[in-house]
Amino acid sequence: MRILVIGSGGREHALAWKLSQEAEVIVAPGNAGIAEDAECVEVRTGDSQGILDLCRSRFVDLVVVGPEDPLVAGLADFLRANGVAVYGPGKDGAQLEASKSFSKDLMIQAGVPTAQFEAFKDATKAKAFAKSLADSGSMPVIKASGNALGKGVVVANTLDEAEEAIDSMMLDREFGEAGSTVVVEERLLGYEFSLLSICSGTDFYSLPVAQDYKRVLDGDRGPNTGGMGAYSPVAAVPTNLVREAEESAVRPMLAHLQSLGIDYRGTLFSGFMVQNGKPICLEYNVRFGDPETQSVMRRLGLGLSTALMAAAVGDPIPPVEVLDNYSVTVVVASGGYPGNYLKGVPILLPEKIPANVKVFHAGTAIKDGVLSSNGGRVLGVSAVGDTLEEATASAYEVCDQIEFEGKHYRRDIAASPV
Ligand SMILES: Nc1ncnc2c1ncn2[C@@H]1O[C@H](COP(=O)(O)OP(=O)(O)O)[C@@H](O)[C@H]1O
Ligand SMILES: [Mg+2]
Repeated sequence: MRILVIGSGGREHALAWKLSQEAEVIVAPGNAGIAEDAECVEVRTGDSQGILDLCRSRFVDLVVVGPEDPLVAGLADFLRANGVAVYGPGKDGAQLEASKSFSKDLMIQAGVPTAQFEAFKDATKAKAFAKSLADSGSMPVIKASGNALGKGVVVANTLDEAEEAIDSMMLDREFGEAGSTVVVEERLLGYEFSLLSICSGTDFYSLPVAQDYKRVLDGDRGPNTGGMGAYSPVAAVPTNLVREAEESAVRPMLAHLQSLGIDYRGTLFSGFMVQNGKPICLEYNVRFGDPETQSVMRRLGLGLSTALMAAAVGDPIPPVEVLDNYSVTVVVASGGYPGNYLKGVPILLPEKIPANVKVFHAGTAIKDGVLSSNGGRVLGVSAVGDTLEEATASAYEVCDQIEFEGKHYRRDIAASPV
């Protein structure tokens, strides 16, 4: 089987690495690290025609789309209309991620448990609803409905904070059009986990759960990032909780999508808050999460390519082999990230990397013949072991040896499992 993976981050590196163990893999555009595990071709993720041409000239059997942007833009529809098997939902299904108000409406229609909410196009009305939530004892959460690059959610601690968030999203347009509609919802209390399900219409298969860390600093302090680390499995999320999450949020959503004429083929990423022991759905994404995927790929045996192909062609999904191990991924980031950071900083990787550690590249490029940083999150050091402690120690041993100016990473990944 020949697979084309679309994207250039740590998630795509992990997917390409895993898939290349059982198929021939090409990545477009890829990055410096991906190029060591698979062939990279310089075609941009937004260049649909270029991607189709590549599928034809290289006889690609399956396209796996990594990031959400090309899905929202309709890449999967375009390729399917031209006879290419694609893992990734069409534009209509991708609205689950592109519009939080659409997503919440569908949750209600499908009977998926979610925080009480209303969507607004008017700031005064949004503030009135926020106040009514606060009056009834729940601090409101304010969400820009569109894509705000992970920065569009404010979990308010006071009504003032909530009102400020509404003003900056709706009136000052802090996130542009993404804030023209806001969702105001009830705040849930508990711990979070996300579930990555490989979906084929109404059939699905969920991958092992990974816990990710969003804040930049140890102890969950500092601003939000794209993710600073992850580990798997997660003791706090036992099988019965996963089954409950599947039955309450994955199966009914896929059935509802089908009833709307949306044949969903790709990853459904469901984010949950476990409140009083019950998984309540916070949001959906339409692609694999990063860095969770880096940890999850280290725990899979054979069968991923077959499962993704089955999803792409609408067949029932055969289970993927899951290894009896632990994995820990620590993200090594550029100085300044998630604020402004430099690119093009030379990176020195340790000469010897132990067999149980894989360094995934998230933002790297070759500059003047030298491996250099090319993004905020630069590397994902992903280790496996027979215990969580062993995997954690191995990951940090390699992190400590990586050299580039300004590098930083959290020291507490997997240290205090939820
Ligand atoms: N209703 C809620 N109650 C409490 N926390 C929330 C709620 N909704 C979102 N959050 C917090 O905000 C984070 C981001 O919200 P989410 O809906 O996942 O949007 P996005 O990932 O697009 O930024 C969540 O991971 C969670 O920590
Ligand atoms: Mg989220």
